[in-house]
Amino acid sequence: MFKLILLLTFSTAMIVSCTGKKGAENEALWKSKGDSLISLTFDTLRNTLLRAIGKNGLPGAVAFCNTEATGLTNTYATERVIIRRSSDKVRNPANAPDSLEQRILSSFYQMIKQKKELTPVLEKDAEGNLHYFKPIIFQAMCLDCHGDRSTQIKPDVWRTIQYKYPADSAFNYKEGDLRGVWHVLFKKEK
Ligand code: HEC
Repeated sequence: MFKLILLLTFSTAMIVSCTGKKGAENEALWKSKGDSLISLTFDTLRNTLLRAIGKNGLPGAVAFCNTEATGLTNTYATERVIIRRSSDKVRNPANAPDSLEQRILSSFYQMIKQKKELTPVLEKDAEGNLHYFKPIIFQAMCLDCHGDRSTQIKPDVWRTIQYKYPADSAFNYKEGDLRGVWHVLFKKEK
């Protein structure tokens, strides 16, 4: 609750201070708003996941993700702010990239190929909505469920994943890999 109040205060301050500022400053403000929403959402997901692993073990945590992940990703969403995680290799088909996310993912892979540092992207679409994208980089704690299929994902975990997600392709990742993209959509005020 405290976090939510903080966020709301922050958002209001942001909207007030946005009006009348120059484009570049506005851009920085939307980016930092996107960053804070992403880091709050990530903390919520990670902390809940760690609790679920502690309580039910890894296979239980997979089952938990299956029912809870989407709701948790929406913790800080509002009527006008949509928060998504997408990837070119998804576990849950509902997270498959739309055309915009697909283009951003391709540009991130292009940057990796050119050995460029991945940087977040802010775009305005034809309707005036803002889209903020940030790369999701793979960490060591993710390997248990998204790592090497034969050496890092334990058989009971793998069985649960296969049962819940028959079309899963979100495995065989290594630490430091690009896992996907955060997408925060700020809908234009009507
Ligand atoms: C306990 C197993 C487990 C761990 C550990 C885990 N994940 Fe996942 N991950 C899942 C499951 C299950 C889903 C599908 C959730 C759903 O149904 O929406 C998923 C989905 C995702 C998605 C959404 C795209 C997709 O494939 O559906 C991303 C991005 C992701 N995980 C990244 C990570 C990252 C980054 C970490 C480490 C910080 C991590 N995961 C750790 C099990 C896990």
